Formats: sequence, C-alpha cells, structure tokens
Amino acid sequence: MSDMAWSPLRLRDITLPNRVWLSPMCQYSADPEGAPTDWHVAHYGSRAAGGVGMVMVECTGVAPDMRTTTRDLGIYTPEQVAGHRRLASAIASIGSVPAIQLGVAGRKTSHGVPWGNAGSRQTVPPGEGGWQPLAPSALPFAGLAVPAEMTTRDGSRILEDMVLAARNADRAGYQVLELHGANGYLFHEFLSPLANQRSDEWGGSLDRRMRFPLEMVRALRTGWPEDKPLLVRLPAEDLLTDGLTTDDMITVAARLGAEGVDMLDLSSGALVPEARRLTEPLHNAHYGPAFRAAGLPVAASGAVSEPHHLDEAVPNLVDAVLVGRAMLRDPYWPLRARGADPFESWPKQYHRAF
Ligand SMILES: Cc1cc2nc3c(=O)[nH]c(=O)nc-3n(C[C@H](O)[C@H](O)[C@H](O)COP(=O)(O)O)c2cc1C
Repeated sequence: MSDMAWSPLRLRDITLPNRVWLSPMCQYSADPEGAPTDWHVAHYGSRAAGGVGMVMVECTGVAPDMRTTTRDLGIYTPEQVAGHRRLASAIASIGSVPAIQLGVAGRKTSHGVPWGNAGSRQTVPPGEGGWQPLAPSALPFAGLAVPAEMTTRDGSRILEDMVLAARNADRAGYQVLELHGANGYLFHEFLSPLANQRSDEWGGSLDRRMRFPLEMVRALRTGWPEDKPLLVRLPAEDLLTDGLTTDDMITVAARLGAEGVDMLDLSSGALVPEARRLTEPLHNAHYGPAFRAAGLPVAASGAVSEPHHLDEAVPNLVDAVLVGRAMLRDPYWPLRARGADPFESWPKQYHRAF
C-alpha cells in the first residue's frame, strides 16, 4: 500500500490530510434557487466520512448563465451562500477539507439534467427556464444552442462575477478553490483553436488565446484569500487533430503558476463530441510527469478504481488523485482501499461492524 497516497500535502496554509480526494461531480440536485439541499449534505458528508482528504464540491455556477443546467448549484446569492456554509461546515466537522469547484460554463450551458427528457445534449431554451449561452465564438457544442460571441463587456461582467463568487466561497468556509477550466467550459474554449476563432486580442496565437483565461485566474485570486490554495482543472490535451497539444498546455500551466495557481488538476478531452475518449486506468495521471515541468504539483482524475492504482499514481505520476465514479458506487472506497486497521481508520460510530 502506498504510504505517500495517505500522507499529508500542504498547499499555502492548508494541510490536506491525505492525497485521495473526491472528484467534483454534479448532482443536479440544487433547490429551484440554486442552493444546496439535504441531498448535498448527505452525499458529501458520507464521502467525508469515507476517508477522502478533500471533498471537492461539484461545479458551482458563478452566475445564473454560467451554470450548465437549472439544477446546478450557484454561489451568487446570500441564500446559496448560507446553504454552502452548512455544507462546508458538515464536511469539515466530519474530518475532511471542504473545497469547491467554480463553474464558468461557456457554450456548454442551458441544457437538461442527464436523467431528464431533455438530456445533457439538448438545450433548454430561455422561455423554458434556460438562457442564452456565451462563448469565445458563435460555435455550438454538438446539438446545443449556438452561443453568442462574448463582447469585452460580457468578459468584464464574468470577471466581476468570479471575484464575488470567490469571496462567497471564502465566506462559506471552503478551504480550497478550483476553477473548472477543462471539459469544454469557457476557460478551455478560449484556449482551444477549435472553439476560439476570434480575431481580436482574445484570439489568434496561443499567447492571445490565453489572455482571457489568465484574467479569469486573476479574478479568482483577487477574491480568494492569500493563505488559501487555488487549483485549476485543465485538459492535458484536446485529443483531436488541430486541437490543444500537451506542449501547449504545459506552456499554459507554467503561466498559471505565475498567476498564483497552486496546483493543476488534469482532466482531458470533452471540448467537442469527436474528441478521443480515454478510458484506461489513470489516464490523466499518465500526463503528470510531463506537467511537473510547469513547476506546480499535479493532481489528476480518471479511472482510479482499484487500490493498486494509488500505489502506481502517487508519487510517481502525480502528487494526488481525484476519485469520481468509484466513489459514487461506494462512499467508503478510500477506507477500503487503504486497508488499515478499521479501529484506527473507520469512524468510531462504525466500530461495532468489525
Ligand atoms: C455524474 C458525474 C458528474 C460530473 N461532474 C463534474 C463536475 O461537476 N466537474 C468536473 O470537473 N468534472 C465532473 N465530472 C468528471 C469527474 O470529476 C471525473 O473527472 C471523471 O468522472 C473521471 O474520473 P473517474 O474515472 O474517477 O470517474 C463528473 C463525472 C460524473 C460521472
């Protein structure tokens, strides 16, 4: 068993008790106003009890039109912040570090929940509770609505929303903040030549395509305290001809470090439906050694489902792993994977089970 996976990691003033973390996963279960519900407290609370060192709460909209669906969480009203305070406090009191991923969804927004009739590939139009998506260029994702090309004024508004969302996340008690910059959301769309075909200062060379994404990171750093860490989830490549390459992304990653980002979280693909899909164990973690060249610690998600994957990943490939679907199947996956004496590792409330 890898001792390193279970060893602490310090980022700024926050110590993560281990390096096995819950990957952010949308629950599409917010109340009609976008606030956390009992479902979130039960779901994230049980994953905290399951032994992850950090619970990353799902992609949470910085503004109504930056959510993916009408059932996403938001963090832009006082009621939402009150719900997040309850959620972050529950996670911390059960013994994990509460973290939140902020979502700025770009063109992949205003669609149905996966289990609804509309489904996640179908737009919910403005008249039915949806909204007009914004993106670098008026290029739609698959069958979703054609986004409006962002103006500089839209950009300024989004950056202001991001500063406020970061402040709200701090007030709610979250200790770690992550920007969702992968999976075809706005940050990723600006970077990729496949989604950004602008001819102004935000388009063209990689250096120019990086400008708005770097502004996004600066906005978060403005609203987020100096002593708390900021992560960015970003693709290791686009997995498609003419898309972003790993070399491009390492260049971006090095710039993120200079802007006050503390750790990278790799999650590739999904910019366009034709992108290659990676399925093999540890697929994003395998990019980890290359990204360490950017000078930042690296985490990755992607098909971590067996205890031996932790040994293979930490520290050889990455500094921490995020576990997704395995933890939907079993909230106690980390405790089982660790295989330690249950009287030492499991919650005392459960000791009579052993
Ligand atoms: C139901 C579900 C919801 C997800 N929601 C998000 C999300 O909110 N933010 C994000 O960055 N990734 C999201 N993902 C991707 C996961 O965080 C993870 O990166 C991916 O599932 C690969 O890891 P795994 O193989 O351990 O599941 C989601 C995945 C699933 C299955």
